[in-house]
Amino acid sequence: MVKKVQLSSDGPELSRIVAGMWRISEVDHSVNNTVSMIEAAVANGITTFDNADIYGDYSAEEVFGEAFEKSGVARDQVQFVAKYNIILPSSNRPSNELHMYNTSFEHIVKSVENSLKLHRTDYLDLALIHRPDPLMVPQEVVKAMEELKNDGKVKYFGVSNFSVRQFEMLQSFIPFQLVTNQIEISPFALDSFTNGDLDYCIEHNRKPMAWSPLGGGKLFQSGDSEFFRVLNLLCDRYDCTQDQLVFAWLIKHPASILPITGTTKADRIVAAARAVGIQLTREDWFRFYVAARGEDVP
Ligand SMILES: NC(=O)c1ccc[n+]([C@@H]2O[C@H](COP(=O)([O-])OP(=O)(O)OC[C@H]3O[C@@H](n4cnc5c(N)ncnc54)[C@H](OP(=O)(O)O)[C@@H]3O)[C@@H](O)[C@H]2O)c1
Repeated sequence: MVKKVQLSSDGPELSRIVAGMWRISEVDHSVNNTVSMIEAAVANGITTFDNADIYGDYSAEEVFGEAFEKSGVARDQVQFVAKYNIILPSSNRPSNELHMYNTSFEHIVKSVENSLKLHRTDYLDLALIHRPDPLMVPQEVVKAMEELKNDGKVKYFGVSNFSVRQFEMLQSFIPFQLVTNQIEISPFALDSFTNGDLDYCIEHNRKPMAWSPLGGGKLFQSGDSEFFRVLNLLCDRYDCTQDQLVFAWLIKHPASILPITGTTKADRIVAAARAVGIQLTREDWFRFYVAARGEDVP
């Protein structure tokens, strides 16, 4: 059973493995499929669902909202996370001219309000600024966050894809904690192990959320490289699947990473939940790290 973890000293409790909703509207019978995923996730302790306005060409929040209502799971048993500020050209948003960011007061407030309607809820547990925006004015972001918090529409705030410096800059304007930075971490995206992102999280007690932990599916395009040889060796050793091995490897890091699974399959959500019981040895953690790096540690 997946347990919860507090994201920061004043932050919310999220499940240690999070269910990502990016791809849910891409499959057949997406609402019914998502109902099954939600039920399987919650039954195994995965109670946190990560979404964004842009997912599924602006359709994933609606699919999730309908599926969640059908699932019969109680709202207070789960946590909804959503992200805003990316603008994508889309037939579902004819006024979007080009791919860009908008972190203005109006856009953030309007996006959250729309998201609440689509999620069929009156509050989000956590809202994130999706990407660093060169035109972001921190005072405007604070104003939007304070208004949404005071109105009870969002309980906690954080960011995604921010560098340490960008995180510190925004945090310095905000009278409450930014509770997480949601970043890409996987065997195919190792920068955060060495660029200070994870060290900052440990130092400031912010638990990072890891997106595309399986490289968006790259993990399953098996090949005859040393990486796949080591992956399969460790899967045999721990009697687990490739996805479980990677989740266990991420979970062992002392920054208390919360991997966000991207599967659309209920049985793979259940498999992800079982990964919390796998304890890699230090030697095997490094064996996999070195294989993922493609070279020895310095
Ligand atoms: N903040 C950001 O900028 C950002 C960016 C990207 C993503 N995200 C979040 O992170 C979440 C996860 O990202 P992701 O979807 O790229 O995650 P991922 O877990 O790395 O990849 C998911 C892909 O892997 C496939 N897969 C999973 N288990 C498999 C298995 N055992 N065998 C074969 N294929 C398997 C899935 O297919 P099936 O559906 O068939 O299982 C899916 O296509 C997203 O849903 C979203 O919430 C955030």
